[in-house]
Amino acid sequence: MGAADPRAPVWAAQQVVQWQATHGRHALPWQNTRDPYRVWLSEIMLQQTQVAAVIGYYARFLERFPDVQALADASEDDVFAHWAGLGYYSRARNLHACARQVVALHGGQFPRTAEALQTLPGIGRSTASAVASFCFAERVAILDGNVKRVLTRLLGFGEDLAEGRNERALWALATELLPQDDLDNAMPRYTQGLMDLGATVCTARSPACLLCPLQARCVARQQGRMQDYPVKTRKLKRSRASWWLLWAEDAAGRIFIARRPATGIWSGLHCLPVFEDEDALLAALPMGARALARPLPPFTHVLTHKDLLLHPVHVQLAQGDLPREGQWLLPEELAGIGLPAPVKKLLNPTSGWVPAP
Ligand code: ADE
Ligand code: SF4
Repeated sequence: MGAADPRAPVWAAQQVVQWQATHGRHALPWQNTRDPYRVWLSEIMLQQTQVAAVIGYYARFLERFPDVQALADASEDDVFAHWAGLGYYSRARNLHACARQVVALHGGQFPRTAEALQTLPGIGRSTASAVASFCFAERVAILDGNVKRVLTRLLGFGEDLAEGRNERALWALATELLPQDDLDNAMPRYTQGLMDLGATVCTARSPACLLCPLQARCVARQQGRMQDYPVKTRKLKRSRASWWLLWAEDAAGRIFIARRPATGIWSGLHCLPVFEDEDALLAALPMGARALARPLPPFTHVLTHKDLLLHPVHVQLAQGDLPREGQWLLPEELAGIGLPAPVKKLLNPTSGWVPAP
């Protein structure tokens, strides 16, 4: 191991810790606390969502559910209503289940090790490590998408992360790189520093190597091959689907809202009734109403693995005309329930999607 080896003991850890103290982020709402409830909540919200989008949700969520007991006591509907719009709703379901387990199995206290945290719903290895290192200064490695990019570049790790053994090898390297002294201060800083580096300096498209505390020994930079890391061959296959949304309104302006099935896209959320095609939608209407149905301009909603082309169809109906499960709600009542973001937007009278006369 040469003097300029990025794996030399604690070199990278010291660089990251010092850099975090001077150049990292310090005022995010979930920093400056070691309350595992607050840290855990932020980590789950941040898993697939940008910091800027999370901040408002985080504050509102904590106001309504200030501690793990309050969250465990809440109904699933209430939790979903405060999650609606953040997407990836399995996170909300796991969040609720996790709070209930912490109360039922751990006396309302989060476990204090990454190993034990990982047994809870929705907490994977990296999230468990983040909570344990932030709150309890445990010496455990995180390895989310951003951190994989930073570490594979730093180390020149060119193996394919689609293969389990390579991913495990990178976990082992990430663990070797961890700080070794002054863990109570260094572990939270190091963990946050890696996240901050990945988000603000070692970005996917244009890493700012000149600002990076790891530049002196970064293998990818020496090779001039930053874009070649990380290597991951398995490509996401994006698919497309078209959905027809029945926007039924009664004379008083109430809108018919049904419940999505427990699995699949938007599982468990309230929603306009969804149909696979226009014929199926029309078949659900009384004969006399079919000619009155007005198709609105379709729009695309992008999910992780799928582009959903949504075709709203507006129709004026009497309440008795729709003998299916659901409820008729006034626009102001829609605010309190969990609706998928594009449906919420569609039904919002200020969104510009007012049905043509
Ligand atoms: N992404 C995941 N965890 C984060 C954190 N603690 N701060 C900023 N971004 C994050
Ligand atoms: Fe990333 Fe550049 Fe820093 Fe290497 S030197 S870790 S490529 S930002």
